[in-house]
Amino acid sequence: MTDVASTVLDRVLVLEMVRVTEAAAIAAARLVGRGDEKEADAAAVEAMRAALNTLYMDGTVVIGEGERDEAPMLFIGEKVGAAIGKGPKIDIALDPLEGTTITAKAGPNALAVLAIAEEGQLLNAPDVYMEKLAVGPGYPPDVIDLAKSPSENIRAVAAAKGVEPHEITVCVLDRPRHEALVAELRALGCGVMLIGDGDVAGVIATTDPDTTVDVYMGSGGAPEGVLACAALRCIGGQFKGRLLFRNDAERERAARWGVTDLDKIYDLTELAKGDCIFAATGVTDGSLLAGVKRKGAKMTTESVVMRASSGTVRWVKGEHRVG
Ligand code: FBP
Repeated sequence: MTDVASTVLDRVLVLEMVRVTEAAAIAAARLVGRGDEKEADAAAVEAMRAALNTLYMDGTVVIGEGERDEAPMLFIGEKVGAAIGKGPKIDIALDPLEGTTITAKAGPNALAVLAIAEEGQLLNAPDVYMEKLAVGPGYPPDVIDLAKSPSENIRAVAAAKGVEPHEITVCVLDRPRHEALVAELRALGCGVMLIGDGDVAGVIATTDPDTTVDVYMGSGGAPEGVLACAALRCIGGQFKGRLLFRNDAERERAARWGVTDLDKIYDLTELAKGDCIFAATGVTDGSLLAGVKRKGAKMTTESVVMRASSGTVRWVKGEHRVG
């Protein structure tokens, strides 16, 4: 990384990023429990875009709301920032509302999420599914391996942790496609924590002993996989991912994105390379962050911002006057 880019990431953008996720979370929070996923997402997108456009950078959205023809704002390739053409070139991965259904139903763990890195450092993941396998920090390198079965991975993690497989807790998205996986994990005696949505928070939960989650397994969105990797690069942990394609249209989409090896197993550092910064603000209460709350004439927010190169993790509580 060049000195200038490093300084900008460090001194300028780290805390500014929290303003961006706060803005998106506050906008979405007004629509918690209102049953309208699209409206909540649109509010978060609009607020995040406006906040990004105040930052001194020449930003490019590399993971966003979709391709240009399907997303009116924050589409992949969209330029954002207040210094386009002159500021530091920054790649941006974002999910203004990770957990649209959660928000619509007032469930737990909805987040506004943003990750940035120097140009070219985040995998431009196509909007397809990704098979994901993650553990938190403290394990020997490559303790997890997507080429192996779930049972083999659980045994390896349990052995490294010095416990029996039945003492391992695995977080999995509650989906029919995970029936066989859940059955295999339960046959081993594992605890399975089924979550309705929000696998960025699910992956990050492996890094926090308070959640009791040891392993994250199963398929979810590939863009969310890259966002989770940016967080793990900062707080530690291991991640393996493989893109999953349901049809030729998805394979073609991946090819347009420059993915040549469709079966490749990606490691954490191939999904989020170099220095990167991850920021999130809670929309609804969750394992990582409290959600936005209205307290009299104020809104309170809880955010986290972390940086890979320094490993610094900052927890930020905000009080905002209700406009
Ligand atoms: P949205 O916020 O886009 O609704 O994503 C929520 C989510 O649960 C992600 O966390 C996860 O990666 C993905 O959806 C899983 O997709 P699906 O709901 O199709 O199983």
